[in-house]
Amino acid sequence: MTTVLALETSCDESAVSLVRRNQGKTYVLSSKIASQVKEHSLWGGVVPEIASRRHLEALPFLIADALEESKVDIPNVDAVAATVTPGLVGALMVGSVTARTLAALYSLPFIGIHHLEGHLASVLLSEEPPDPPYLVLLVSGGHTELIEVRDHGAYERIGRSHDDAAGEAFDKVARLLGLPYPGGPSIEAIAQGGDPRRFQLPKGKVSKPGGGYYSYDFSFSGLKTAMLRKVELFASEGRKLPVPDLAASFQNIVAEVLVERTVICASDRGLSKVVMVGGVAANRRLRELMEVSCQKNSIEVNLAPKAFCTDNAAMIGAAALNRLKLSQCSSSLELGVVARMPLNQAEALYSQKPLF
Ligand code: KG4
Ligand code: ZN
Repeated sequence: MTTVLALETSCDESAVSLVRRNQGKTYVLSSKIASQVKEHSLWGGVVPEIASRRHLEALPFLIADALEESKVDIPNVDAVAATVTPGLVGALMVGSVTARTLAALYSLPFIGIHHLEGHLASVLLSEEPPDPPYLVLLVSGGHTELIEVRDHGAYERIGRSHDDAAGEAFDKVARLLGLPYPGGPSIEAIAQGGDPRRFQLPKGKVSKPGGGYYSYDFSFSGLKTAMLRKVELFASEGRKLPVPDLAASFQNIVAEVLVERTVICASDRGLSKVVMVGGVAANRRLRELMEVSCQKNSIEVNLAPKAFCTDNAAMIGAAALNRLKLSQCSSSLELGVVARMPLNQAEALYSQKPLF
């Protein structure tokens, strides 16, 4: 039995979780999140300085709550984990320093986690987690990627967005439609009463320099511009903006693009399992379409539980449990944080001579 205390502070959610692995199964003992969304929404997006301050204020209470709910004392945990990359450096630093301080105080191993590895591990918190190999569609506010997971810790990125991430496109289009931040849940809510077929919208393709397209890559800038043109047209004609129909059409085209390219990629590479994780993976239309399309193509589909799609610390704990199982590894207490780092270099976080 292994228990990890995990912290996540890479962006605008302060989160703490206790996660346990027992006989191969992963259990979330507690998962606490203090969202800063309301405060940031006043500014239309995340303000890094505010994020760091709020993490600092929230963490002590969240840690106390999480320990109480899970009935675990810190000396009885096996390791302390925190997200160290990618993210807002000031925000990451708050979680990392807190985790390293606890690790030093209680003589516990510290495990620095790559945020995307955390998202990948969120599927391990589902009822029946899949075994690798599988293809992951990771769709969040900062990333839209197709990643082949050959084994836990062995990743190859096969596709990516060349401009905005899918979540970013949801956030920007929501703002265009006058809907609140974060855009994903706002668009999903209002799209319920809309007609997803009313507007024809482009499925952005990425051209190859010598001709043809990158089959597994994404582009959302053309779609964003198309939405802007529709809004401008209604405004110029003095007509009321049909927000539910625009939101439903946008949501539908994003879901279709994501699902189509994922299924083609899995089929081309002979992968019989597809996994979907990240904030946008909470979207109901996207979940339904992914399930239906995978079934049609005889692909097994595993979606991260909705509660663990958007940023949380349970997924960071699950990733840390994997790292512990892989090699009993730990990070140096001198490991810092960094705004960006490719996922396939995550192994470097466990070097005893830290890269940063
Ligand atoms: O994974 P996440 O919480 O943070 C990052 O690592 O980026 O993802 C946040 C993103 C935001 O862009 C938000 O608008 C989007 O996920 N999102 C959604 C939904 N819930 C959150 N997008 C579409 N539908 C949703 N239900
Ligand atoms: Zn995230």
